[in-house]
Amino acid sequence: MCGIVAYVGHREAYPVLLKGLKRLEYRGYDSAGVAVLNDGLKVVKKQGKVSVLEDHAASVYLSSHIGIGHTRWATHGEPSDANSHPHTSGSGKIAIVHNGIIENYDSLKYELLKKGHVFNSETDSEVLIHFIEDIQENEKCDLEQALRLALQRVVGAYVVVLVSEDDPDTLFAARKGSPLVIGVGKGEHFLASDATPIIEYTNEVVYVNDYEVAIIRNNELSLKNLENEYKAPYVQTLDMDLAAIEKEGYDHFMLKEIHEQPKTIHDCLRGRLDAEKGFLRLGGIHKYAEQLQNANRIIIISCGTSWHAGLVAEYIIEELCRIPVEVEYSSEFRYRNPIINEGDVLIAISQSGETADTLVAIEKAKSMGAIVFGVCNVVGSSIARTSHEGVYTHAGTEIGVASTKAFTAQLSVLAMIAMKVAHDKGTISDERYHLLLKELDAISSKVAKAILQEEKIKLIAKEIKDMTNCLYLGRGYNFPIALEGALKLKEISYIHAEGYPAAEMKHGPIALIDDGLPVIIVATKDSYYEKIVSNIQEVKARKGKVIAIVSEGDDVIPSMVDHVIEVPNVNEVLMPLVSVIPLQLLSYYIGVLRGCDVDQPRNLAKSVTVE
Ligand code: F6R
Repeated sequence: MCGIVAYVGHREAYPVLLKGLKRLEYRGYDSAGVAVLNDGLKVVKKQGKVSVLEDHAASVYLSSHIGIGHTRWATHGEPSDANSHPHTSGSGKIAIVHNGIIENYDSLKYELLKKGHVFNSETDSEVLIHFIEDIQENEKCDLEQALRLALQRVVGAYVVVLVSEDDPDTLFAARKGSPLVIGVGKGEHFLASDATPIIEYTNEVVYVNDYEVAIIRNNELSLKNLENEYKAPYVQTLDMDLAAIEKEGYDHFMLKEIHEQPKTIHDCLRGRLDAEKGFLRLGGIHKYAEQLQNANRIIIISCGTSWHAGLVAEYIIEELCRIPVEVEYSSEFRYRNPIINEGDVLIAISQSGETADTLVAIEKAKSMGAIVFGVCNVVGSSIARTSHEGVYTHAGTEIGVASTKAFTAQLSVLAMIAMKVAHDKGTISDERYHLLLKELDAISSKVAKAILQEEKIKLIAKEIKDMTNCLYLGRGYNFPIALEGALKLKEISYIHAEGYPAAEMKHGPIALIDDGLPVIIVATKDSYYEKIVSNIQEVKARKGKVIAIVSEGDDVIPSMVDHVIEVPNVNEVLMPLVSVIPLQLLSYYIGVLRGCDVDQPRNLAKSVTVE
């Protein structure tokens, strides 16, 4: 949540900041702002998207070689010009951008108000910069020390970057619980919430760790902890290409990312699976492979779409590995008093690798003795680094706020983990193992085939776009896909949608069904097929409009329903990888037809770094 970018070096800072903010806009788009130093501090900020800031800043003289920028997802205070970042200190000499939440801001603000501080916003971030300056004045110290002292008293999560009129060539930054990457260029440095604003300038990066302060002065980066001890920066070379973060002719990132899936799944399997030779190699489950194989129980924690991937994994792991699996929302797990026994293993799934609830849930499980495997997309992310081991999904940068390609890559990784454990453990026959390897190897071409239904899906989208409610049903492996379909529709088109296990319908939701309710039923050929055919009949008997996702060649369901969308035949264990595709496309086209901003749906942000 919230995107931060900063620059110091030989270029003009403002264009770098602006471009960076556009790249980070998926993290929040309630407001945007920049601060540069040119003959004093200049701050320009505006409620709305980065383009609003761009128009507004066009007439302002912002020439400078140092600056900070922010795109906001509102937490404290509504979206407004006043609540936009950067915020300035009481003297107006220091500016800050902040991502995260200062939990004890209320008590700090109370102290500062008593001292006569005046605030122009409702944000916790403005309180923080006043607090830092207050310490600087009281302790008669420099800004760097004041920052360290302030952060020792702050409760919560933060990435902050500061510039000051009194130190016009220096960027000050710090992190705890939110991400911060520093790009190291020739004679220049870039700071950002992720690497996307940096990658076109340099691929040499340093990931700042929690409780570290970074000072960039005279083209030199120093890292220190809050106790003022130097830490050696670890410079890594990033493997990310610019094309991955451009739309490349598609109208939206979401559509591009849906279409990329045959390739991203292929990339995810590459070097790990060889169906011909019959092997699966996952470097990320090596050291703790035995614990995983002999786990008494696997607990999966995640949020949103990643949680749906976890639900699919529950079905696959229990079926193939015969290990009990529990799937939990990270936000629930972290606040209750969960039981972790010896022999329990945790799998944390996260596209961004920065989701605050998942991160804290991992820490909690680790402190209780669990071994944690991370399944993350963003390389070097906090969850990837804090897990004991893990497997990257390699789906490339996902920019559309609604997750698509990351989801199918998560399913691919989770299926590989289950197949490998089952094979090593001997809970599936060799024959079944080799069959599943072949099926998984062929999956990207089947996903490509499922995408070919796009034109038909567009027509269906046109017909149902004005609905106000929608029900998604599925059973077995397709039940989490019904949940995912409903989530995609809600977030992209703002239509109320519910996902349900089809058999549960008669325990309540059937009361909703009438001739005005579209019911999307994922009814591919699997061991639940006959049962779901009966559920379709139950919906039709109550005049529901049924759109069914069916397996190619199905000759029963098409005559019963209003529309069918065919997907290729796949072994049921892997079917979710294919059956989700039409649901992604349907939500996309409904959203577009309703005029919604599908890449940046209202109120959402890509990386949920606040709880
Ligand atoms: C939905 C979506 C969200 C995320 C959720 C978890 O399309 O993208 O529900 O899945 O916020 O995010 P990660 O996977 O980054 O932990």
